[in-house]
Amino acid sequence: MNKIIRPAHENDVLAIYQLLAFYALKQIVLPRTEADIRYYLANFTVCEIDGELAGCMAVRDFGNRLFEVRSLVIKSEYQGQGIGGELVSGAIARLKSKYDKFKLFALTYRANFFIRNGFVKVNKEMFPEKIWSDCMLCPKHDHCDEEAVLYEYEKGRIG
Ligand SMILES: CC(C)(COP(=O)(O)OP(=O)(O)OC[C@H]1O[C@@H](n2cnc3c(N)ncnc32)[C@H](O)[C@@H]1OP(=O)(O)O)[C@@H](O)C(=O)NCCC(=O)NCCS
Repeated sequence: MNKIIRPAHENDVLAIYQLLAFYALKQIVLPRTEADIRYYLANFTVCEIDGELAGCMAVRDFGNRLFEVRSLVIKSEYQGQGIGGELVSGAIARLKSKYDKFKLFALTYRANFFIRNGFVKVNKEMFPEKIWSDCMLCPKHDHCDEEAVLYEYEKGRIG
C-alpha cells in the first residue's frame, strides 16, 4: 500500500468534492461547492492511497492565530486506520513550526476522536467568527448539536 499525505492539488478538487458531498448529505460536514474547494485549495491536505483520494482535511485561518479544522473526512473503507489522526497531528505540527502560540478548534460529532488527538471540549460560543460565517449556511444553524473542541498551544507552556 502506497500512502502519501500531501497538500491538495488542482487535480484533487473533484475527488474532494465527491468525498465531502457524501458526508454533507448526511449533515455530518458542511456542503462545499467545487468552486469553493478550488478557491480554498491551499487550506487542504489530502491522503492518497495507491493513487486514490482516501481522505481530506482543511485548516481555515481566522486571523489572530485562530484556526479551524474543517472538511475532515476519511473514505469509509479507510477509517479506523489512523489516517484522520495523522492529518490532524500533521496540521498541529505545521502550526507549531510557524507560530509560538495558536488555537485550533473544530465543531464536530466526533469529539472523542479529537480528544484522543490532544483537544479538549469547550463552549462553542467561544468562536463567534465561526458562528457568524458558515454556520449561517448550515441547515442546523438554529439547532446545532455539534460539540466544540479546542487545541491550544503556547511554546514553553507546560500542561
Ligand atoms: C472522524 C474521522 C475523520 C476519523 O478519521 P479516521 O481515519 O477514521 O481516524 P483514526 O483512524 O485516526 O481514528 C479513528 C479510530 O480508529 C482508531 N485507530 C487509530 N489508529 C488505528 C490503527 N492504526 N488501527 C486501528 N485503529 C486505529 C482510534 O482509536 C480511533 O478511535 P476513536 O474514533 O474512537 O477515537 C472519520 O471517521 C470520518 O471521516 N468520519 C465521517 C466524517 C466525520 O465525522 N468527520 C469529522 C468532521 S469534524
